Amino acid sequence: MHLPSKVKIVEVGPRDGLQNEKQVVPTATKIELIERLTEAGLRVIEATSFVSPKWVPQMGDNTAVMQGIRRHPAAVYPVLTPNLQGFDAAIQAGATEVAIFGAASESFSRKNINCSIAESLKRFEPVVSAASALEIPVRGYVSCVVGCPYEGAIAPEQAAAVAKTLFDMGCYEVSLGDTIGVGNPAAVQRMIEACARIVPIGKLAGHYHDTYGMAIANIYASLEMGMAVFDSSIAGLGGCPYAQGASGNVATEDVVYLLHGLGIETGVDLAKLAAVGDWISSAINRPNGAKAGRALCAKVAT
Ligand code: HMG
Ligand code: MG
Repeated sequence: MHLPSKVKIVEVGPRDGLQNEKQVVPTATKIELIERLTEAGLRVIEATSFVSPKWVPQMGDNTAVMQGIRRHPAAVYPVLTPNLQGFDAAIQAGATEVAIFGAASESFSRKNINCSIAESLKRFEPVVSAASALEIPVRGYVSCVVGCPYEGAIAPEQAAAVAKTLFDMGCYEVSLGDTIGVGNPAAVQRMIEACARIVPIGKLAGHYHDTYGMAIANIYASLEMGMAVFDSSIAGLGGCPYAQGASGNVATEDVVYLLHGLGIETGVDLAKLAAVGDWISSAINRPNGAKAGRALCAKVAT
């Protein structure tokens, strides 16, 4: 079996993770988290989102976060921008990479960004042109690629069609989101197969929430398909405010443990990463959702 020799990890904990905490996390804690993640070797860290603070108050300190972080010269700190207003604010705050986010499900699109899929794609066009004029790379997300909290199962072709539109629009990479973590390896492989028929597999990423405990299996299934970019969240933080019951992204510690075990390079120092997961879990007073993280920290303590 031919697995990739190297994988890029996109750490989404500070955004996807912390956007879902009931208590708004202090800005200083967010900044420290991003810096510690950088120190552990992560080179792509989604830092915050420039969305409406009425919709997601947890990300209301976006400018302060972007302006507060010490940036590593080799790292990028992308942010979510749902529209031109968010894009302009992100650029003002010093963002050098942005992400637009659509969905494969009409109902989720309405709940999450208050418009239809078609309207959202229209709304992203000026964001991509403004970004292109400033040479700012744009990443695309498709949510609900295998299942939707409102519509149930989603056809792989539906996810693929949105992924292709985002790719053709100019996204350098399209992240396929199992927003509610209902996928299993068979469903995920069917979905990737449909996407990879019309978007090169090298331009696709996997973004799997772990609600049903399938995310690591889904990553392995994706590696088998040749995918080599995965989004994950330190300590398994997070969920989505518009997907009730969805748990966090797959934990970065668990992903790195899997990848290193398979002999796949990540550039991440797993021991340091586990310590970051332990630190943020106590800082925000929640259990550490990373199994490998907990095991490694327990070993250090004995
Ligand atoms: P809307 O209410 O339709 O927007 O929201 P609007 O254009 O009608 O404007 C209404 C008000 O919002 C105005 O303010 C605007 O200024 C303001 P008012 O005049 O009422 O005072 N506004 C903004 N403020 C700050 N930043 C902006 C912005 N845009 C408008 N960018 C909108 C539409 C998209 C803004 C809203 O629905 C929204 O912010 N949604 C964000 C939802 C969100 O962040 N969800 C979580 C992230 S997605 C996710 O987690 C999935 C992912 O992880 C992948 C996966 O797991 O599948 C990526
Ligand atoms: Mg997500």
